[in-house]
Amino acid sequence: MRERVLEGLTRTFGRSERPPTVIRAPGRVNLIGEHTDYNDGYVLPMAIDRAIWIALRPSSAPAITIHSLDFDQTDSFALDAIEHATGSWADYVRGVAWALQQHGYPLAGWEGVLAGDVPVGAGLSSSAALEMAVALAFAAVAGWSWDPARMARVGQQAENQWIGVNCGIMDQMISASGTQGHALLIDCRSLEAVAVPLPAGASVVVLDTATRRGLVDSEYNQRRAQCQAAARFFGVTALRDVSPAQLEKASDRLDELIYVRARHVVSENQRVLEACKAMQAGDPAWLGRLLNASHASLRDDFQVSSPELDAIVESAVAQPACCGARMTGAGFGGCAVALVRAGDAPAFGDAVAASYGSRTGLTPRVYVCQSTAGAQVLT
Ligand code: GLA
Repeated sequence: MRERVLEGLTRTFGRSERPPTVIRAPGRVNLIGEHTDYNDGYVLPMAIDRAIWIALRPSSAPAITIHSLDFDQTDSFALDAIEHATGSWADYVRGVAWALQQHGYPLAGWEGVLAGDVPVGAGLSSSAALEMAVALAFAAVAGWSWDPARMARVGQQAENQWIGVNCGIMDQMISASGTQGHALLIDCRSLEAVAVPLPAGASVVVLDTATRRGLVDSEYNQRRAQCQAAARFFGVTALRDVSPAQLEKASDRLDELIYVRARHVVSENQRVLEACKAMQAGDPAWLGRLLNASHASLRDDFQVSSPELDAIVESAVAQPACCGARMTGAGFGGCAVALVRAGDAPAFGDAVAASYGSRTGLTPRVYVCQSTAGAQVLT
């Protein structure tokens, strides 16, 4: 990818005396802690070896020109009057520039090319990766230092207010600050992040159901509203502040639907903290059981799974090499994540593809993922 963007830069903009800068910002998979980020709770994602890359050079004009090698499209805009593009990848670039200005960052112009290998729309956060790559491009050109939590907030603001997608902070945080060989325990209230080692002897395998649901945005917003209703009932800022015991005590006074939604969030936060212990102990079987419990909770209490996600998770856990599996990301389609005995991952992928294929008639994609660093400038 590095060569691809460097070569693309010369082809698109010609040769130059000025040395290019190369930036990489990864996609992510969340191991556990789903629908907890917007409840000020805990998440445990890892940055993956699929990323968005930008090669760029500073320009003298206060403007951005960026060419996407994947879409073969070029976008240009002036930094003093940023307007919306056409709802494409270019809007993420403009949205981040706008959000950086809102946060008071001085911006300087550059020209660059963009390419990536994060599958788009699969739930592996290609948009957060693009946002963090663009933010780091601006940081590199203007010379300010990289503050992962602030940059994650910038990306989230671009997503919420410029693009109009109501997401939490997880995807941007992990793309901004991942650690190789580790997942990151992120406290979505304080934005403190602690690297937790992945258990040796286990591989993380992403299973893409090859389904996408149009309803995901409205369902997502509805879940957020239900969580807020539960928090209001308890008189707290967010469900993060409700303990399992408190929730149980209130169970017969709470609306039944609100109760099961809250039960997912409250129990999921506990599972994330326990998952960290399992990882510190280097115990993939323990971690796998937590993944299975998370899936059951997302399917039954939070109701954000789908028949295809359930089918792929069932196909996964039926394999002897599988320690555990669950849907990952917002749900209603997209990907599951499985923890698999290392060495068995390729055969596991084939077996799941065959089993899922015969159950649904769909052809899944399988990605054996390595955990990588977050956004970085490469020399
Ligand atoms: C999407 C959002 C995240 C998070 C997950 C669910 O990926 O972008 O912020 O809320 O859903 O855990």
